[in-house]
Formats: sequence, C-alpha cells, structure tokens
Amino acid sequence: MKYFTEEHSEQAVLGRLSPDVDPRFRQIMESAVRHLHAFVKEVEPTMDEWTRAIQFLTATGQICDDRRQEWILASDTLGVSMLVDAINHRRPDGATENTVLGPFHVSGAPQRANGDSICLDQKGEVCRVSGKVTDEAGRPIAGASVDVWQTNGDGFYDVQQPGEQPSMNMRGLFTTEWDGRYAFVTVKPLPYSIPTDGPVGALLNAMGRHAMRPAHIHFIATAPGYETLVTHIFVKGDPYLESDAVFGVKESLIVDFEPDDGAWKAGFDMKLKKTD
Ligand code: BEZ
Ligand code: FE
Repeated sequence: MKYFTEEHSEQAVLGRLSPDVDPRFRQIMESAVRHLHAFVKEVEPTMDEWTRAIQFLTATGQICDDRRQEWILASDTLGVSMLVDAINHRRPDGATENTVLGPFHVSGAPQRANGDSICLDQKGEVCRVSGKVTDEAGRPIAGASVDVWQTNGDGFYDVQQPGEQPSMNMRGLFTTEWDGRYAFVTVKPLPYSIPTDGPVGALLNAMGRHAMRPAHIHFIATAPGYETLVTHIFVKGDPYLESDAVFGVKESLIVDFEPDDGAWKAGFDMKLKKTD
C-alpha cells in the first residue's frame, strides 16, 4: 500500500515495519497499532479532543521525577497494573496472591528483629502483626525476608512528608525464624488518598471516581527458590474495599484486625510458590 487512507490506516502503518524486527517486538507493535487505530475509529475524536488527549499525556510525563511517577499512577487507576500483575503471577490455589506494588516502596528499609516496632513517630493505634511464611504445602520457610511498609497514623507515607516524619518511618525488614514466623508492631492502617494534584487526579475527577485506597499494609516476601510475593493485607470492614482506586483488593488478602488488650492484632500467613 502506497498511500494512507482512512479505511486502511493500520495497514499503512504496519506495512512500514521492517521484516528484520525482533518477532516479539513486531507482535507488540502490530497489536498496539491495530488497537490504537480501532480505538480512534470507534471514538472519532474531534481535533480539540485529540489535542486534550495529547495535553494529558504531556502533563503526565512532565510531572514525573525521581519521586513522582504519574505514569504508574495512570496505569494503576486504569486497572492496567493489576492486569499485568495478574497475567505474570498466575498462582496455584493456596499460594498467596500478589497485588500492586505501588509507588511508595523504598529499598534499603532497616533490618529489625521480630517483635520490633516500625513506628518511629508514636502516632496511631498500636497493632501487632504476625504470621508464618511457608511453602504451598505449609512447610515453614526459615530465613525468608519480609519487607513491610505502610502509612503512619495520619495516613501518609514517610516519603510524602520528608522532614515531618522520621526517615524510614513505618518501614522494616524482618527475617523469619526457624519455624517460618515473623512478627512486628505497627499502627492500624487508615484509608488514604492517592496523589490527586496531577493529571491522573484530574482524570479520576472527570470520570466521577474517588481516589481512595482502603487501609492496607504492604509486604514483599522473598526466599531463595521461591517466587517473590508482592502483596498487601487489607482491613476487613474498610469502606473502600470494593472501590479501591487502583483495583488492588483480592478477597484472600482481607484480614480481620481484632481488638487485643487495648491495641489491635492481625495475622497473615504467606504461602510462597516455588520457582519453576
Ligand atoms: C499504594 O498502595 O501505596 C499505592 C498504590 C498504587 C497507587 C498509589 C498508591
Ligand atoms: Fe499503599
């Protein structure tokens, strides 16, 4: 095909793909072009609407820096992060489910002893969290690493309030004991809003959606010979469980936080899948 026509627009573009391109890259580009053209043909955007779309994409890139990743937020709020995660972490029944990593993980959290607190600012309601890391058959995994992080008693991550919260507040790295057990003290998490001061916040608003995530604690569990588990636990009864702004909730990850001697307690066992 020599010239571009509305009818054969995707063939015009795909015809330019060099025969030498990597086959996987070819598959991705062919699909991307086909879907993009089908979308435009279905929607028939006006020139003004297309300009607004380009402005959204531009603003999303421009607000990104080392600490702000608006593209990930866009992917999260459109359900794409959870879809990619689901495709890449199909687990057998019984193995603990993954969920979205989110933008607030920080590597290099301090190593702490089991039973230590991750709360450095004394805000919030004390909560003891404990459980076991095992294989799919329930056999304990000793020496597994359990990286945990969450918002503080005011509902913010330390990296959202530099100078206000102590660095590495509400973060810790634990190692399971001989019987697979880990334990830490924290505060009961609260629901919080994802950042809304950028283009993704404006998009959510335009769609009539809220930006809240239900209360949760993040975990990454790793052990040699097992798939890395990236997950959260969610607080049973939270009002946002069924409308999480980033679609991260899975039923198996909802945990009862129970009153315990003037504080709270929650249990969470993690079953890791062996690597193939
Ligand atoms: C979070 O859980 O921290 C998070 C996840 C996705 C987008 C924004 C925040
Ligand atoms: Fe979070």
